[in-house]
Amino acid sequence: MVQFNSTFRRLATLFLRALSVPHLSNAAAAASNGPRVLILGGGVSGVIAARTLHQSGIDNFVIVEARDELGGRMMTTTFGGKTIEQGANWIQGTQTGKGPANPIFTLAKKHNVSTQLNDWSGSVTTFDTTGAVDWLDVFDASGDDFDDMTVAAGARVDQNLVDLSARTGYSLIKAKPKTDQERAAEYYQYDWEYAQTPEESSLIASAWGNNFTYNTDQGGFSEDNLMSIDQRGFKALIQLEAQDFLTPSQIQLNSVVKNITYSKSGVTVTLTNGKTLTGDYALCTFSLGVLQNDDVKFQPELPDFKQEAIQSMVMGTFTKIFLKFPKKFWFDTEMGIFADSTRGRYPVWQSLDHPNFFPGSGILFVTVTGDFSIRIEALSDQKVQAEVMEVVRMMYPNITVPEPSEFFFPRWHTNTLFRGSYSNWPPALSSQHIDNLRANVGRLYFSGEATSRKYFGFLQGAYFEGQTAANNILACIKGPTCANLEHFTQINNVLPYENN
Ligand SMILES: Cc1cc2nc3c(=O)[nH]c(=O)nc-3n(C[C@H](O)[C@H](O)[C@H](O)COP(=O)(O)OP(=O)(O)OC[C@H]3O[C@@H](n4cnc5c(N)ncnc54)[C@H](O)[C@@H]3O)c2cc1C
Ligand SMILES: *[C@@H]1O[C@H](CO)[C@@H](O)[C@H](O)[C@H]1NC(C)=O
Ligand SMILES: *[C@@H]1O[C@H](CO)[C@@H](O)[C@H](O)[C@H]1NC(C)=O
Ligand SMILES: *[C@@H]1O[C@H](CO)[C@@H](O)[C@H](O)[C@H]1NC(C)=O
Ligand SMILES: *[C@@H]1O[C@H](CO)[C@@H](O)[C@H](O)[C@H]1NC(C)=O
Repeated sequence: MVQFNSTFRRLATLFLRALSVPHLSNAAAAASNGPRVLILGGGVSGVIAARTLHQSGIDNFVIVEARDELGGRMMTTTFGGKTIEQGANWIQGTQTGKGPANPIFTLAKKHNVSTQLNDWSGSVTTFDTTGAVDWLDVFDASGDDFDDMTVAAGARVDQNLVDLSARTGYSLIKAKPKTDQERAAEYYQYDWEYAQTPEESSLIASAWGNNFTYNTDQGGFSEDNLMSIDQRGFKALIQLEAQDFLTPSQIQLNSVVKNITYSKSGVTVTLTNGKTLTGDYALCTFSLGVLQNDDVKFQPELPDFKQEAIQSMVMGTFTKIFLKFPKKFWFDTEMGIFADSTRGRYPVWQSLDHPNFFPGSGILFVTVTGDFSIRIEALSDQKVQAEVMEVVRMMYPNITVPEPSEFFFPRWHTNTLFRGSYSNWPPALSSQHIDNLRANVGRLYFSGEATSRKYFGFLQGAYFEGQTAANNILACIKGPTCANLEHFTQINNVLPYENN
């Protein structure tokens, strides 16, 4: 049925396209197949860019992807007999009434992806190093502090005041965590979302990051977080979307890009296997971490303005550590939070063995972020398991906790195709840097979650940026003129922040 529908849709599209011959103005476009576009990377940004080109009648493109499937950071594995998510797991912000919809929510509905509401604020058990201890009052107060911090950030924007770190922002509203519990509560509100500490993050941008996704007064979608429990994987939503319009010749999997040579007239890409691909245009959707670490070589070297932008945004790391036990012995809430004397030490716990998720699965996971993630990636699995189990036994001092029968965590920071989980905006970054991150160099364009000013770090950021980049390329293809995207050769004075 699905196959028939998509074939039908493709035929219908071909028919419509035959009726409306697109107006092509430059010489390359006049060629029978039109200009060729190389889409580098097959994550959400690459797939949505391809769909945008296709919908405008440009089908002479190829998605070049290193892995053996599409989806990028929407990535699963099998653990404890279940499909679990190594990367993106939640639709963050859905839709309120007839307000703006998160396009990821729309895709999930279209492809019938199975999700469950995940109650991050109302279904929580609190722990410290002595076991389960009720400090929900501290937890709730820190949620209020976070909201107050976003309001204080907005007041600074209104007055054209410079950005500060989120830590300074918290301090100025007198939110100054002093106890282990207060620090763990702040971590849950802050680091667990941004994958970095308040010290490392922009006050204004973190308020935007929250508002534009979650705050309906500020154009956000909704406060809800839907967790994918779909056994095809959360990635099904982008893979099925791709299946609807891509033909096999438009995807090249298992192809690792090594060199990208760009100019005003086109782009040539060399793969690690020595193969060369040429395009009139290319869109690079590799993660910020990949660009920062010289995993791909640009020829000529990227201009200074571009390198400054790439090295100024930060790639955070968010690590889910999965444990499978013979049977559940832990909290009945969805979430658990552990206050250690070291901030960020195995703090956020989630039960998958819960009626809403995978009941009877015996699966529990804990999340760490930032420098702590980088630290554990350098340790052996056995060492990390021993540390995690020491914490579980602190949380349950009166239970004889067995060793887990399975243990797994992904190493996003050391993975050369990602080099981290998602981007985070530091205090020293300006809006012009984001313009520069997104700006084209010759016929080479850039998109991905990191180029999104409103939704950096989120799936919706990758989606909207892929769409925008494809529209910019289309504007060049369809002419009459092809404008360079705005960039700033030097950033020597931070302009007031722009809200777009
Ligand atoms: C652990 C984790 C949890 C997250 N949780 C959420 C969440 O719950 N909700 C949410 O909205 N977002 C979440 N995110 C963020 C979200 O996954 C990303 O914003 C989004 O998937 C990025 O899409 P993209 O297309 O920009 O980049 P990518 O998905 O990284 O796509 C780029 C593609 O390029 C490929 N590539 C890289 N280098 C090369 C090369 N040299 N040659 C060829 N191909 C290459 C990669 O394999 C990849 O497929 C999470 C991310 C992680 C890692
Ligand atoms: C959607 O998914 C649900 C549960 O996963 C399933 O019962 C239902 O048949 C699916 N519907 C369609 C149209 O695929
Ligand atoms: C563990 O047992 C001791 C002794 O019975 C008791 O005092 C303590 O409250 C228990 N701790 C927890 C977290 O249940
Ligand atoms: C975020 O939302 C709050 C509450 O609506 C608002 O007061 C504040 O100005 C917003 N912050 C920013 C940086 O836009
Ligand atoms: C990539 O570029 C480097 C430096 O110019 C060159 O040494 C290398 O051979 C190139 N690799 C491929 C696969 O073309």
